[in-house]
Amino acid sequence: MTAVPGLAIRAVRPDERAAWEGLWSAYLDFYRATIGPEMRDLTWSRLHDPLVPLHAFVAEDEGALVGLVHYIFHASAWTRGPYCYLQDLFTAPSSRGRGIARALIEAVASEARHAGADRVYWLTMEDNAPARALYDTLADRSGFIQYRRFLTRG
Ligand SMILES: CC(C)(COP(=O)(O)OP(=O)(O)OC[C@H]1O[C@@H](n2cnc3c(N)ncnc32)[C@H](O)[C@@H]1OP(=O)(O)O)[C@@H](O)C(=O)NCCC(=O)NCCS
Repeated sequence: MTAVPGLAIRAVRPDERAAWEGLWSAYLDFYRATIGPEMRDLTWSRLHDPLVPLHAFVAEDEGALVGLVHYIFHASAWTRGPYCYLQDLFTAPSSRGRGIARALIEAVASEARHAGADRVYWLTMEDNAPARALYDTLADRSGFIQYRRFLTRG
């Protein structure tokens, strides 16, 4: 259990594809992104493949999944331990403002610490005020800005 009464944060289970996909779809909608069935299958299988460093925690409240976070470990040229990249974070709209995202981030940070990671880090959109209000209480702003060049799109 967590500091939020009734809430459990734990790894997603292989029998929870439908609930995970409901949250994942809502998150993709938030970003107006589309990911097809083949890629969804691949992501789901990666989450349960011990050789792939992609993981998911879910927030369970009274038997229902109400939040998710995906996180990835990768090597760093700067530190002996890995870095942990928190890629996706989502709380179901009806469960917001209860500390669920905070609990999900803390769970990833704790897992990363146990894995010997040097840091956990994440990105957000400049105009994502709710997310930034939370993040400002949990971590430092790096001062870096992100550049990216797509290599597989036309
Ligand atoms: C951002 C998001 C994950 C926050 O989830 P959440 O479970 O509601 O967040 P929490 O309850 O843990 O937030 C705790 C703190 O964040 C801030 N916060 C969260 N939502 C807020 C909002 N709508 N307005 C203002 N502050 C907010 C508050 O400081 C809050 O502290 P408080 O409980 O002392 O008031 C959720 O709004 C969401 O899923 N949004 C859509 C997807 C998204 O933006 N994901 C993050 C992408 S980087």
